[in-house]
Amino acid sequence: MYRLSIPDPSLVLLIGPSGAGKSTFASRHFRPTEIISSDRCRALIVDDESDQSVSGEAFSILRHIARERLRRSRLTVIDATSLQYRSRRPLLRMARSVRVPTVAIVFNLGRDTYFANNLARLDRQIPAAAIEKQLAEFETAHARLAREGYANIYELDATTLNEAVIELTPHHDLLLSTA
Ligand code: GTP
Ligand code: MG
Repeated sequence: MYRLSIPDPSLVLLIGPSGAGKSTFASRHFRPTEIISSDRCRALIVDDESDQSVSGEAFSILRHIARERLRRSRLTVIDATSLQYRSRRPLLRMARSVRVPTVAIVFNLGRDTYFANNLARLDRQIPAAAIEKQLAEFETAHARLAREGYANIYELDATTLNEAVIELTPHHDLLLSTA
């Protein structure tokens, strides 16, 4: 068993390339209303999860929902690749501004898994070049996450991905125990 202790409320960023299993993991471990998916936001605008032409609008909606949830102290899970600092930064700032901790769950499955999962998937396939670009972005993200101020960083590999158990810890209790 691989225990992931997550403060409640918190902002949870799932960080990893396409095909890493972020959406699968999210739906296994969190309630549907706790998950905000960038792909789902695209689909809400143009009925197509993969239409990159509405990415700006989709992330604007994603951040809007995240803000409204976090200011009400609702656990919020961001299902997007979150590989670039410029996509993480506004979310990190938002959580900090309402004193909600942020947790990073890093999907480090290795390139073979991303490509194999992508080929096998039925919903939509990502061009190989896009995955290559994401692999480079992942390396950059991986090297700097420790300096971005997360309450916890959990890393999942092929073994721990399937052994993961989420334990929600009331944030209030955490504050008391460290006082
Ligand atoms: P993007 O939304 O493109 O960023 O990908 P994602 O990280 O959300 O990946 P997703 O959860 O959609 O998984 C991609 C494919 O990998 C799906 O077809 C899943 O069936 C498969 N997959 C996901 N998790 C696992 C896993 O733990 N084991 C196996 N064998 N396959 C998995
Ligand atoms: Mg997904």
